[in-house]
Amino acid sequence: MHFKMKIAVLPGDGVGPEVCREAVRALKTLTHYCDCDFQFVERPIGGAAIREHDTPLPDATLQTCLKSDAVFLGAVGAPEFDHLSSEQRPEAGLLRLRTALGGFANLRPAISYPAIADCSPLKESRVKGADIMFVRELLGGIYFAHPRGFDPDGTSAHNTMRYSVAEIERVARVAFEQARTRRKKVTSVDKANVLETSQLWRNTVIRIAREFPDVKLDHMYVDACAMHLVSNPTRFDVVLTENLFGDILSDEAAAITGSLGMLASATIGGEVNLYEPVHGSAPDIAGKGLANPLGAIASAAMLLRHSAGMAQEAAALEEAISHVLQAGHRTADLIPQDVSAPAQSSHAQPAAIKPRHAVSTSEMGALVERAFAALLDRRFAYHAV
Ligand code: IPM
Ligand code: MN
Repeated sequence: MHFKMKIAVLPGDGVGPEVCREAVRALKTLTHYCDCDFQFVERPIGGAAIREHDTPLPDATLQTCLKSDAVFLGAVGAPEFDHLSSEQRPEAGLLRLRTALGGFANLRPAISYPAIADCSPLKESRVKGADIMFVRELLGGIYFAHPRGFDPDGTSAHNTMRYSVAEIERVARVAFEQARTRRKKVTSVDKANVLETSQLWRNTVIRIAREFPDVKLDHMYVDACAMHLVSNPTRFDVVLTENLFGDILSDEAAAITGSLGMLASATIGGEVNLYEPVHGSAPDIAGKGLANPLGAIASAAMLLRHSAGMAQEAAALEEAISHVLQAGHRTADLIPQDVSAPAQSSHAQPAAIKPRHAVSTSEMGALVERAFAALLDRRFAYHAV
């Protein structure tokens, strides 16, 4: 069966273009092994779009995204635009795009890969085996609700946290459905001891949980959750959060994997799904080949799973990432400052070769490509064309 897919690629700012290139390379590999055709259409967003078109989300970019089968985004944000108002900044382009695409559930897996468990600033014995799926509400809450703004005399400012029952119900269902495919546990995060939006959140989640009697539900205040994530990350399966809490906790969870560069995301539930690594534009290392493309490549795997219906190929791409790490290859962010120092843990991975030097962004992409191709060859007996 011939399978065709149009993917809008929005490289954006900073390291965005470098990591996008490697994600696209991984997807292109697949076209040599199966009867599928990915058409990539590149468009500007964020600071890159402000420079060319004076707006962080040009209409042509938005129209291309709406007509695509999936959107892949690198990163947005550049220090030269820090002085602009929140509606004019590069980030506003991404927030407008998210709203237009309609995906309200942002899936952010945080996995401790065995080969790099020693890269975590946390004790290896604690992070080992951690495998968390954050389900972050992406279109509501304090990011979007009105009123907001600076007060006229400039000495104060305000934002509004607002949630409707319907907004909570739909994202809660995604969390419970995710849990069904995993270890069947949802931890719902809120601040119900202080916030009314959180009381509504908790009551609604409890009600939706009745539709999923096979899934266990518990609740945690966001402050406690921040602590448990670093002290006992293996206690979590699916973590369901509102928008701002999810933004903060998912970055914190990068400490479990060892680097922010490892984190992938998929935003589902709308017209067109959106895939983006969690790391930002990292302007300080942009253009130097230092960025870790694995979060972007893992986001491409999520695209295969959630937009292309290619679950096996998605799993193979994720396995390729594991293999490359297991073989000892590292980008700079995954090499501890002092490699000669003894490992913190007494349980260092016996099979992993200790890395001596870092590979570049494109070298890492090429390594994953090779591992992916080898797996496709073996696993699915595809024939190269
Ligand atoms: C993220 C980012 C974005 C967010 C910014 C760039 C608007 O931090 O995807 O986590 O806050 O959602
Ligand atoms: Mn963030």
